[in-house]
Amino acid sequence: MRLDVLIIGSGGREHALGWKLAQSPRIGKLYFAPGNGGTKALGENVAIPVNALERMAQFAQERSIDLTIVGPDDPLALGMVDVFKSRGLRVFGPSKRAAQIEASKAFAKQLMLESGVPTAEFAVFADYKQALKYVREKGAPIVIKASGLSLGKGVHVCTALTEAEEVLKQILVDKIHGEAGNQVVIEEFLDGAEISIHAISDGNHYKMMPSSQDHKRVGDSDTGPMTGGMGAIAPVPWMESEMMRLIEDSVVKPALEALAYRGYAFEGVLYPGLKITNKGPKVLEFNARWGDPEAQVYMRLLKSDALDLFEACVDGKLKSFKLEWHQGYAVNIVLVSQGYPDQYEKGFMISGIEEAEEIPGVVVFHAGTLYADGIVKTSGGRVLGVSAVAPTLKEALKKAYQAAQIIQYEGKYFRKDIGTKSLTMRA
Ligand code: GLY
Repeated sequence: MRLDVLIIGSGGREHALGWKLAQSPRIGKLYFAPGNGGTKALGENVAIPVNALERMAQFAQERSIDLTIVGPDDPLALGMVDVFKSRGLRVFGPSKRAAQIEASKAFAKQLMLESGVPTAEFAVFADYKQALKYVREKGAPIVIKASGLSLGKGVHVCTALTEAEEVLKQILVDKIHGEAGNQVVIEEFLDGAEISIHAISDGNHYKMMPSSQDHKRVGDSDTGPMTGGMGAIAPVPWMESEMMRLIEDSVVKPALEALAYRGYAFEGVLYPGLKITNKGPKVLEFNARWGDPEAQVYMRLLKSDALDLFEACVDGKLKSFKLEWHQGYAVNIVLVSQGYPDQYEKGFMISGIEEAEEIPGVVVFHAGTLYADGIVKTSGGRVLGVSAVAPTLKEALKKAYQAAQIIQYEGKYFRKDIGTKSLTMRA
C-alpha cells in the first residue's frame, strides 16, 4: 500500500526529507506545510503555518494522511505531536514534554546535571541584578543564552565583560528575544571543535547516525554573528569510533534514559551539539529534531528507505530496523541572502539550479525560495543548500563549490571554508 506523507516546515531540511522519501517505492502523495519553491516539485505545498496545530491536524485527518513528520522546533515545543496523537494520527517527533530538552535550556541543563551528561558549568537566572552579579564574578569570555527558542539567535558568546553586561540587559530588560529570554542560562565558555550528533529513537530503542558538523557563524574562519547554519559535512573525518562511542555512552544514552525516567520517552531525532574540549566531549545544547543543514547531508548519505525508517520509529520497531548509510562523504553549502542573519532583501530571481545539478553527485535543496509562473525567487535568509556526495570530503567540497558558483541571484553569499578545517584536522 502506498502511504501519503505530510512534512511540516519550509526549510532545506524539509526539502531534503521529502527528496529522500520520494525515492521510496511505497510513497504515495507528499504534502509540505507550508513548503518552499523546491518542495512544490515533489508534491503539494499547503498554506498552513507551522504553528497552527489544530488546523494542521484537521488537514491530516481530512486528507487521511498516513504519516506526518514534524521538521522545525517551534511546533514540537508547542505540542504538535500531542495534538496529532490525541486524534489518533501517526506522527514522527517528540511530545511537548520531551521537546523541552530543546525548548528550555534551563530544563536541559538540569537534566544534564542530574544524569551526569558532561556540559559547561552554568547558572540560570530570571533576575537581571542577580545575573549581572554572577557575570561580574565569572568575567569573560562567557556564554549567555536565552532559555527559550529564538531561531538560533539566542546564544551570545561574549568575549568582554562589557559585552556580557550589555547582552544581559538586552535579554532580561529590553526583551530582544521576547518571552524566550524570560530566563537566561549563563555558562562557561568552552574551547574546541563543534560537532553535531544525531540519534533516532522510537521511545524504547535508538540508533546513532554518523557524526556531522555545521558551521554556525556567517563569516569565513568562524567570524561574525551566529546563524541558523551555513554549511554541513558528514561524516566528520577526524571523529573516531572511540569518540562516537564515548558520546553515545555519556550523552545520548543517559539523556534518553533521563527523559524516559521522567515519563517523557523521546520519539524522534535527538541532536546534541557538542564541543570536543581537551577534557573530552561537552554538550552545548540539545535539539529535539534534525539539524538544518545537517538533515541535508544525512539524507544524501542514508541508504535505507526513509519511509521504512520513519515507520519503524512511529511503530516502535526501530530495534530490528537495519539502518544503513552510503560510504563516502556528503556536504551541503548554504547560499544566503546578502545581509543575513540581519536585514536582507528578497524577491530576486534565481537561475542556474538545473545546470548546477548536472554536476555528478550534486543535488540542490531549496530553503527560502518561492516558485511562481515558472520562476524561482528568493524569499528568505537561507535560500538554497548545494549538496554533493563523493568518495572523499575534498571531492565532495569541490563539486558543491563548483555548483554554488553556477547558481546566480542578486545578493548571493556563502561561506568559502565549509569543511576546510576538517580536511587537515586530526582527532
Ligand atoms: N544546525 C543548527 C540547527 O539546526 O539548529
